[in-house]
Amino acid sequence: MAVKLLLAGCGKMGGAMLAGWLEQGIPPENVTVIEPNDDTAAALRTQYSVATTTSSKNIDISTKPNVIVFAVKPQIMDAVAPAYARFVDTDVVYLSIAAGKPISYFENILGKNASIVRAMPNTPAAVRRGITVNCANDQVSTEQIALCEDLLSSIGEVAWVDDESHIDIVTALSGGGPAYVFLLAECLGKAAIKAGLPEHIAKRLARVTVAGSGELLHRSNEDPATLRQNVTSTGGTTAKALEVLMADNGWQPLLDEAIAAATNKSRDLAE
Ligand SMILES: NC(=O)c1ccc[n+]([C@@H]2O[C@H](COP(=O)([O-])OP(=O)(O)OC[C@H]3O[C@@H](n4cnc5c(N)ncnc54)[C@H](OP(=O)(O)O)[C@@H]3O)[C@@H](O)[C@H]2O)c1
Repeated sequence: MAVKLLLAGCGKMGGAMLAGWLEQGIPPENVTVIEPNDDTAAALRTQYSVATTTSSKNIDISTKPNVIVFAVKPQIMDAVAPAYARFVDTDVVYLSIAAGKPISYFENILGKNASIVRAMPNTPAAVRRGITVNCANDQVSTEQIALCEDLLSSIGEVAWVDDESHIDIVTALSGGGPAYVFLLAECLGKAAIKAGLPEHIAKRLARVTVAGSGELLHRSNEDPATLRQNVTSTGGTTAKALEVLMADNGWQPLLDEAIAAATNKSRDLAE
């Protein structure tokens, strides 16, 4: 792939994407990372052999990047994005992974002609097992959609939604989802400790059970309900626990509430 990429922000998520691109075969010389901290920039050059610059102002317009990725924190986007408006007429697609920053936000900064993709990745991207959900504005071409799909597939699965309001629910589900699963591992361990199991074995069992169940779900063609039923004998111990978890005041209403709270927060951030 001979695409030229500018990456603004190379922290947890930007770094995972960069590693994925290089592993996918994108030549390091085709990637420029904008990193304001000299030491971090030097570390990136050593580790990945990519070009770095401390400011987007140093990038010549003739560079003609195909994709500019915004992977900085949403709070500093006002200070970061405007400097990239000068690339708008170079057939570039802007790919933002910033939570709570809608397409209209970037159109206001970059202009209505800008091709913009709003993406919501998640942290399993660090092990190439993430899922990124995207929404594009009308300016994004079919080729640019394919290009973004290629880039994001280096960190896991890729999905698209037409209705941008769905990104708020996506943010609540897959964006924050890894945190809920890690919390499950924490809570399972604590429950077993309370039941009398030594801490080290309780934590290990919880961790391996959550990880192994995720892997089984990943590899299996069965849906989660079937996999659940496969470990539940009628009248057995698992059924007893599920009576609690699937009661009217069990996990479903709690997760309904959690997803609604995160969705509302994402909507608030966008406003
Ligand atoms: N982490 C998640 O689970 C997740 C999920 C979905 C979406 N996102 C989105 O991904 C984005 C990045 O999140 P993150 O967790 O990767 O944050 P992060 O680890 O803090 O990374 C942000 C990076 O941006 C760099 N930076 C600061 N100012 C800059 C500038 N002017 N130009 C270029 N780079 C600059 C920071 O460098 P310094 O450290 O040197 O300041 C840091 O390396 C956020 O917008 C977030 O909403 C994150």
